[in-house]
Amino acid sequence: MDLIESLNWRYATKRMTGEKISEKDLNTILEAIRLTPTAYGLQPFKVIATDNQELLEEIYEKSCPQIVVKQASHLLIFKAKKKLDEEYVEGYLTELKRVRNATDEYIDGYRTKIRKVIENPAINKFSWMIRQTYIALGFALVAAAELGIDSTPIEGFNAKALNELLRLDTDSEEAVVLLTLGYRNAEEDHLAKQPKIRKPMESLVERM
Ligand SMILES: Cc1cc2nc3c(=O)[nH]c(=O)nc-3n(C[C@H](O)[C@H](O)[C@H](O)COP(=O)(O)O)c2cc1C
Repeated sequence: MDLIESLNWRYATKRMTGEKISEKDLNTILEAIRLTPTAYGLQPFKVIATDNQELLEEIYEKSCPQIVVKQASHLLIFKAKKKLDEEYVEGYLTELKRVRNATDEYIDGYRTKIRKVIENPAINKFSWMIRQTYIALGFALVAAAELGIDSTPIEGFNAKALNELLRLDTDSEEAVVLLTLGYRNAEEDHLAKQPKIRKPMESLVERM
């Protein structure tokens, strides 16, 4: 399938078979997440990947009563950072200097740019980091489709309950969006054969 065929093939799957996806495919999806571009390259998120059935059942019971969570091969839990402290930014700049052999002058300039954002009281930092996290969600959705793996992006969950269940330190991070991975159960899923609902191109894109 080419890219557009894959994107037409994928849909937010409501019923899965429980069949496991391969470790190789999982790693490809995780690598797509790792390669996701983010503002300044700061990658202010982390992902939990689990295929632990007990945990999936618990998430279903306590946070996300959507059946597909229990039927998935894997669940990805995207956690956004809540703050970017100096240590985090300096760690990134050290890596930038190392990998690209950047000059101190360049690093100083880059630090100033980053600080302009993270020290700007008008910018809601958590919201900014959530936006970066959703780019990774998008990359994972496309990567899964390319591999012929079904997925469901999920915002309909109780974040507080999930944060508690995962014992997250909510001063520093929170679960913001989920993605199931697996294989569709086309017979049980009423949406499996439904056409897509999308705006026509001309009402979405304005060419100038
Ligand atoms: C950020 C986000 C959150 C979503 N949350 C849910 C959800 O909680 N449960 C669900 O069944 N579908 C969820 N969806 C799926 C959308 O309803 C679906 O993607 C949309 O209707 C377009 O249909 P399609 O993905 O099947 O093409 C979500 C999608 C996105 C992108």
